[in-house]
Amino acid sequence: MTDIQRVGVIGGGLMGAGIAEVNARAGLDVIVSEVSDDAADAARDRIHGSLDRGAKKGKLSEDDRDAAKAHLRFTTALDDLADRDLVVEAVAENAELKASIFGELDRVVQSRQAILASNTSSIPIAKLAAATDRPQQVLGVHFFNPVPVMKLVELVPSLVTSEETVTRARTFAAEKLGKETIRAQDRAGFVVNALLVPYLLSGVRMYESGFASAEDIDQGMVLGCAHPMGPLTLADLVGLDTLKSIADSMYDEYKEPLYAAPPLLQRMVDAGLMGKKSGHGFYDYR
Ligand code: CAA
Ligand code: NAD
Repeated sequence: MTDIQRVGVIGGGLMGAGIAEVNARAGLDVIVSEVSDDAADAARDRIHGSLDRGAKKGKLSEDDRDAAKAHLRFTTALDDLADRDLVVEAVAENAELKASIFGELDRVVQSRQAILASNTSSIPIAKLAAATDRPQQVLGVHFFNPVPVMKLVELVPSLVTSEETVTRARTFAAEKLGKETIRAQDRAGFVVNALLVPYLLSGVRMYESGFASAEDIDQGMVLGCAHPMGPLTLADLVGLDTLKSIADSMYDEYKEPLYAAPPLLQRMVDAGLMGKKSGHGFYDYR
């Protein structure tokens, strides 16, 4: 049985919105914290839009959709997370930003039993834990995109996370959210991104070198290997800024060329081409 009922989500972007949605659909009381009123409104629109689409497709009843909406609140004040049992941080992949948020959470969240989790893809959990006075309650709880569809959650304890925290997070993810969990060590990329990111970067390099067109690279992996989408479409789905940040922290950790972001990826981010979320990446979504 899980003791977690009140959940906070920091950041209501691609991932935070999905995490908030699955928690609200599971009947938990959810508060989403964002940087500004506009960003909070955008997060609400994103989550409500997804719930409305789900109801339209018959995946949840209109009553369940309305109940999920009623379980969600939005704020720009981190102090509103004081009574949470679990907080999942899902802001941009930036170690300094995340560490400062964990420092703030340590001050704000009152229950010493509360779990402070990060959805980071690649930043060491130990660094985030060190920003708090309760490192045993800090771990990585890594969801996958799109959160309502993907079954997996990676659990990432740091060297000082307590076993009790890992067990409580596993029980919560399985019993409340219906997710499968795997356990990974606190190494940049954990299990899935350690394998996936070099593959996505190879796709970008192949395209950058003129080896094949974006469409042919993607078709190759969809039709040749039965992947649901090709590497460039998947890079666009993840977000090119996020992919670049993940590659940077993995390169920083391992110093291996296979994790080095290709120049084209950097140029696309510089040019504001962030993938599907900005309307343009390797493909045009406008
Ligand atoms: N929210 C809710 N449901 C969604 C959704 C969303 N955002 N996006 C898609 N779906 C649902 C659709 O409603 C549909 O459900 P039904 O089949 O029951 O109708 C189903 O998913 C398939 O969607 P579509 O038919 O619209 O499109 P598709 O068949 O092309 O599937 C996809 C879309 C699920 C994204 C699929 O292409 C896929 O699985 N792609 C790979 C995703 C992946 O690899 N994710 C991992 C990214 S890496 C990561 O997350 C880690 C990191 O740190 C970067
Ligand atoms: P995103 O850019 O879509 O969203 C980030 C959100 O955080 C934005 O809405 C932004 O306004 C908000 N934010 C920034 N600073 C904040 C603060 N101080 N307080 C509250 N909100 C703040 O990014 P995303 O794709 O949702 O990624 C979020 C995290 O999830 C990253 O750590 C990323 O590595 C990880 N992740 C991403 C994916 C993916 O496929 N995109 C998959 C798994 C994990």
